[in-house]
Amino acid sequence: MTDRLEHHRRRLAACGQDHLLRFWSRLDQRQQAALLDDLDQVDLDRCLPLIDTLVRVRPAPVLPRHIEPAEILPAEADAARAPVYARAREVGARAVAEGRVAAFTVAGGQGTRLGFDGPKGAFPISVVRDAPLFQLFAEFLLGVERRYGRRPRWYIMTSPSNHAETLAFFERHGYFGLAAEDVMMFSQAQMPAFLPDGRIALAEPHRVALSPDGHGGSLWALAAGGALRDMRERGIEQISYFQVDNPLVRPIDPLFIGLHIGTGSEMSSKAVVKADDTERVGNFAVADGRLCVIEYSDLPDELARARTPAGQRLFDAGSIAVHLLSRAFVERLTQPGSGVALPWHRADKKTQVVDEDGRIVTPATPNVVKLEMFVFDAIPLAHNPLVLYTRRDEEFSPVKNADGVDSPATTRRDLNRRAARWLEQCNVCVPRDPAGEPAARIEISPRFALDPDDLRTRLSGEPLTIRPGDSLLLA
Ligand code: UD1
Repeated sequence: MTDRLEHHRRRLAACGQDHLLRFWSRLDQRQQAALLDDLDQVDLDRCLPLIDTLVRVRPAPVLPRHIEPAEILPAEADAARAPVYARAREVGARAVAEGRVAAFTVAGGQGTRLGFDGPKGAFPISVVRDAPLFQLFAEFLLGVERRYGRRPRWYIMTSPSNHAETLAFFERHGYFGLAAEDVMMFSQAQMPAFLPDGRIALAEPHRVALSPDGHGGSLWALAAGGALRDMRERGIEQISYFQVDNPLVRPIDPLFIGLHIGTGSEMSSKAVVKADDTERVGNFAVADGRLCVIEYSDLPDELARARTPAGQRLFDAGSIAVHLLSRAFVERLTQPGSGVALPWHRADKKTQVVDEDGRIVTPATPNVVKLEMFVFDAIPLAHNPLVLYTRRDEEFSPVKNADGVDSPATTRRDLNRRAARWLEQCNVCVPRDPAGEPAARIEISPRFALDPDDLRTRLSGEPLTIRPGDSLLLA
């Protein structure tokens, strides 16, 4: 303990951050140990240069000189593209069957907006069973195994504050039908929160105010947590990245995978047509010649509202935060000495801190600066990045807020609508209310069917009768 304390005392004093130890003599042994553990996580080499450039000053946003709309592949192939898409589906299906593609969920976020006490993936969301988000992803992978003969490996990134709980949740639920060996969980790194004067904040006298370093940190967490090595050993070449908050996501999509592999793309993305000009999603654009995502908060209003001569929204492609990354690309970015770094983004947040006397203060207005990396900032570094449009009603309805837009209510509605539509595509009659909404609660587990074609085969002409008010589960 004394050696560790001395080590931290020296390095903190050298950069004017030794206030972090000012309550040391008041702490009991357990608290002292907790503080040293937190200090081990503070990477000063990474933090210090950011204090002068991003914390003490609020730099004016630097916008690229030329921002143009990006070229996006259509969701449905026209006659000319049909053979290309058909071939891509085959290439993707083969990669999945040969175990060359893994699923990767980023679940390290704090989910503060939803107000749910627990890892977000444990949030119950499905329409009939109330199955949690993690269960739906697990069942998707079991559906992939049924359909393509190979169960994809699943990597899950947690953060130090939810790792143990996430692991316990999977164990309690028997990994939702997967085997523990199918899932590799690892935690992302953290960054300290800073007071506006550049000092690192304490959340309690013995706790540094730490929070996850953003989903951009997932690329380095894949390396540090041993996942890249694990992938290499297993012959996994492609990483199918998605966020924990979207139960409509297709964690493994042969068309997307095939297009990504076929064009030699290092990082591919899916987009939907934006719901309105200022929807809170990232915007695909070409900035100074490079494909990128510009977050809604950074896209100038006149560009967000700009129209083509034909009256269409110019920046129409919203990011659903679904990407394919080649393993080799992530290795290239994260290898020691690569010199590659993603930019840090500043967010002014409210967080509990301790005052000079060690009293805990809960602020009413933002009091700290948090710094995060965003995974989409890797797109401009990739060779041949591509973007594929997809249908919002098929693949995107995230749970972000407790109510209103992107809330559990809208997500369940969209899951139910999709299930009803799939059944109707299989000639099953679904009762509808006067507003056209399905008048029954319908849940199709992805383990049962992955898409309408799959569903048709699975139902194989069995008559299915749904009455108003019914709850139907296909699992
Ligand atoms: C995000 C994207 C936005 C996209 C939208 C689609 C950003 C800044 N914006 O918005 O471009 O259109 O999703 O739904 O990301 N996470 C971690 N570790 C972290 C931070 C986040 O694993 O340190 C995970 C969360 O668990 C979650 C996901 O990343 O799965 C998204 O994080 P969140 O902060 O909720 O992003 P949004 O602002 O909703």
